[in-house]
Amino acid sequence: MAEERIYEEFEHYLTPPSWKDRVWEIEEYKAFYEETIKDKENLEKWWAKWANELPWFKKWNKVLDDSNPPFYRWFVGGETNLAYLCLDRHIEEGRKNQLALIWEGEPWDEMIRRPKEIRKFTYYDLYRRSNRIAYALKEKLGVKRGEILTFYLPMIPELPLYMLAVQRLGAKHSIVYSGFSAFALAQRAMAAGSRIIVTADALYRNGKIIPLKEIVDEAIEICEEKGHKIEHVIMVKRTNRAAIPWIKKRDIWHHEFIRYISENARIEPVKLGSEDMSYILYTSGTTGAPKGAQHSIGGYAVGLYTTMKLIFDIKETDIYWCAADIGWVTGHSYIVYGPLITGTTTLMYEGAPTYPGPDRWWNIIERYGVNVFYTSPTAIRMLMKFPLDYVKKHDLSTIRIFHSVGEPINPEAFRWYYKNIGKENIVASSTWWMTETGQMLTGHFPGLGKIFPLKPGTNGYPLPGVKMEVLDEDGNPCKPGERGYFVITNPWPGMFMTLYQDDQRYIDVYWSKFSKDNKWRFYTGDFAVKDQDGYLWVLGRADDVLNIAGHRVGTAEVESAMVMHPAVAEAACVGKPHEIKGEVAFVFTVLKQGFVPSDELVGELRNHLRKTIGPIVASDATILLVDMVPKTRSGKIMRRLLKAVITGQKLGDVTTLEDESAIKEAEKAYEYLK
Ligand code: WT7
Repeated sequence: MAEERIYEEFEHYLTPPSWKDRVWEIEEYKAFYEETIKDKENLEKWWAKWANELPWFKKWNKVLDDSNPPFYRWFVGGETNLAYLCLDRHIEEGRKNQLALIWEGEPWDEMIRRPKEIRKFTYYDLYRRSNRIAYALKEKLGVKRGEILTFYLPMIPELPLYMLAVQRLGAKHSIVYSGFSAFALAQRAMAAGSRIIVTADALYRNGKIIPLKEIVDEAIEICEEKGHKIEHVIMVKRTNRAAIPWIKKRDIWHHEFIRYISENARIEPVKLGSEDMSYILYTSGTTGAPKGAQHSIGGYAVGLYTTMKLIFDIKETDIYWCAADIGWVTGHSYIVYGPLITGTTTLMYEGAPTYPGPDRWWNIIERYGVNVFYTSPTAIRMLMKFPLDYVKKHDLSTIRIFHSVGEPINPEAFRWYYKNIGKENIVASSTWWMTETGQMLTGHFPGLGKIFPLKPGTNGYPLPGVKMEVLDEDGNPCKPGERGYFVITNPWPGMFMTLYQDDQRYIDVYWSKFSKDNKWRFYTGDFAVKDQDGYLWVLGRADDVLNIAGHRVGTAEVESAMVMHPAVAEAACVGKPHEIKGEVAFVFTVLKQGFVPSDELVGELRNHLRKTIGPIVASDATILLVDMVPKTRSGKIMRRLLKAVITGQKLGDVTTLEDESAIKEAEKAYEYLK
């Protein structure tokens, strides 16, 4: 997809008519931007300005402490709490009746052509409910400041309520996406040292009920085998499914859990240091073990607040919809914490975009009058396949801002939504960021009151205050238009603080490749291009990480899952381009002696992938059985060659290859598969 990008051609610039009198000359914008990153003083001034718009229990005495890089500390000495910023302060400031959260369930009533369930919460509602949960957690289970709870919850209001409840207590959460497998859940719950898991009986997806409790039970068994005890499972009742497995004393329904707690129960939000931890979120890397990105409180809040204002130009009167899952960082930052900090109304939709028909999303936008919309390129590519009538029958005129995230947006998909959803009069851009950055770091900034011209497919400019470079292998800046490694050369407030309990890995993975001469540079793992105007174009991962429908999956993770199966001797995973999902997994698999290749076995292996990693990887994965995989003489799998085989590209340098017949075989097997 990257190939069709056209970063040079001016004729592709777009300006929405309603912004026509508010367009920067690019030089003028550049000057504004450069000023914010000129030196440390300006940088601190820029961020302090935003931090000053938020209330603090105690104000910071230092904006940025960079005395121990790459361990940066933001708003040092400041005291705050995310629950306080999201709820209490709005109530103190007289906004208790403002609508905070609209939740729409998936089930649909065809008779009245409306969703069966809608729940609306004012800021006061969220405040009261999360207080009650916090009280129950503290009094009944003894949850204390610093403890990490694992959440394995679908897109229901109890998820943000529990998030806000633990923030009040100064406890932390580790959320595991509800599409992950028992194995992945167990791995993460153990790594976080959780003794409590909060989950639901099941979830709705595409009209079906998908059980969750059984997966949790299986995960707990895995934990117990490894000597880790999960003491309590709190379960929200989402569906009416019967015969839910139950372990007395350990399992409790959420509604029973809070039943005898007064609705007026209150817990004062704990005054936490700005640099304390708010949560960890596990993400994939190039080795098997997931990395726990550890986020801060004060800096994180400032990063979110600033980007909500600048990139989404958010107003309290807006209906704001980020159509992601809270299980990913996008949902943490931009369904829950970001919008609530700004006091807007955040919309949360439970189910699939195409249930009960391909226009469910357009229907939602119309019914609530969504003003600001945030979604992924994969979703757009999927929805643009359906006849345009599904779009046309809905009034989408309320939308003024529409951004995407998760993977590169191909210009075709951009043009499609710019024209058909945005009626060529919206601000739209692809906002680049990652789990580790906590906040968006590139895009367009209508919140500044002026925009620079839009270009289909670009990631726009780095956020003011954020310095980004595209470097070659030796760490020298690439020329405009040249592809290189994407790095960030100064710290930013929303950044993760470290990898949970693994400072060394934090340094090794992110800060080793390009830091030198006492200059610290954060390596993103992406390839990018900077064009002649300074716009960025992120092209995709430069390392052994796949991006499947905007979800990061390490090839090593897939491979180690595969070899857990008794029939598998070895596996090599590469990404195969996919029209809708961007990329899907392609796994060259070598069987152990004595196992006979068959379609049945391939089916079993796919099932195994589903159970060990989850459906994200398994659904469109290809498993190809081969006798060997190509390796270097030192025994490293040459994924680059396998990728060339399945994408029909030239093999390139094969001198380090140990046994050439491996590649011949891969080619033959792939031909046969086609
Ligand atoms: C990786 C991070 C934080 C959003 C969800 C993904 C890719 C993310 C873009 C974009 C091109 C993007 C990068 C990045 N990515 N946004 N707008 N354009 N690529 O978070 O799972 O931490 O993955 O997603 O490759 O490194 P994540």
